[in-house]
Amino acid sequence: MKKIIAFSGKGGVGKTTSLVLFLKYIIDTKKAEDILVIDSDPDANVADVIGEEIKFCDTLGGKMKVLKDKIQGFKISPNTPKNQLIESDVYNCLIEMDEFDLLEMGRQEGEGCYCFVNDVLKKVIDSLSKNYEITLLDSPAGLEHFARKTGRDVTDLVIVTDPSKMGIHTMKRILEITDELKLQFENFWVLGNRFPDDLKEVLEREIDKLDRDNLKLLGFISNNDEISKLNLMDGNLLELSPNNTSYQEAKKIFAKII
Ligand SMILES: Nc1ncnc2c1ncn2[C@@H]1O[C@H](COP(=O)(O)OP(=O)(O)OP(=O)(O)O)[C@@H](O)[C@H]1O
Ligand SMILES: [Mg+2]
Repeated sequence: MKKIIAFSGKGGVGKTTSLVLFLKYIIDTKKAEDILVIDSDPDANVADVIGEEIKFCDTLGGKMKVLKDKIQGFKISPNTPKNQLIESDVYNCLIEMDEFDLLEMGRQEGEGCYCFVNDVLKKVIDSLSKNYEITLLDSPAGLEHFARKTGRDVTDLVIVTDPSKMGIHTMKRILEITDELKLQFENFWVLGNRFPDDLKEVLEREIDKLDRDNLKLLGFISNNDEISKLNLMDGNLLELSPNNTSYQEAKKIFAKII
């Protein structure tokens, strides 16, 4: 079954870390072979966490800028269908890693023709993800993003929160936005990252209070020194020791999704 799993939540709560732990889980357990990771954060978060450096010109934003400059400089015949140009740029942007493909959205500059570009992008990303068993999406806090890009087909929305009032507030806000935008997901999950044992029940209570049938607690991932160290030392989170306790917890809770 094809799955598109998006990781959202307040800034800095551990979206990218959770996504990469999930990616490691999929790779280690061979749950899927064709995996696409879409990093829609302009700051190329996923690449950072796996120790890859990606130039702006290799991101979709970079390619779109070149294309826009060409269109505005009349270097492309006005008759050339722009959808095709954008589509082929998206495919050219796929970075092939050993075990998955990575699409870095990068920064998107300027406005104007961008509505059009975003519209085409949304369609392309939808059809692109059809070629993969699993698509993982790292997204900045605002959910408008989904509405513009992949919203419709996202099967699982994982809302990550840390033990903070702001993290939980953003979690609730995200749920409200999904209602306002009428975004459909098969499953809504809440992932508590870095919760000390004695605070876990606070999150459990908050989720109970929301009283939503389709909202489930995925579970907790503990704060972990090896994760901090890999991040600080520019390491690759995919190379975390297989017996790392937080990874063990992550594997157990991710099995609820796939
Ligand atoms: N369970 C954990 N144990 C130790 N460190 C963690 C853990 N989860 C996240 N971190 C660290 O916290 C920082 C923020 O994590 P991360 O980059 O995953 O958050 P984010 O939500 O993706 O942030 P942003 O909104 O900026 O994209 C990173 O330095 C990361 O290494
Ligand atoms: Mg991030």
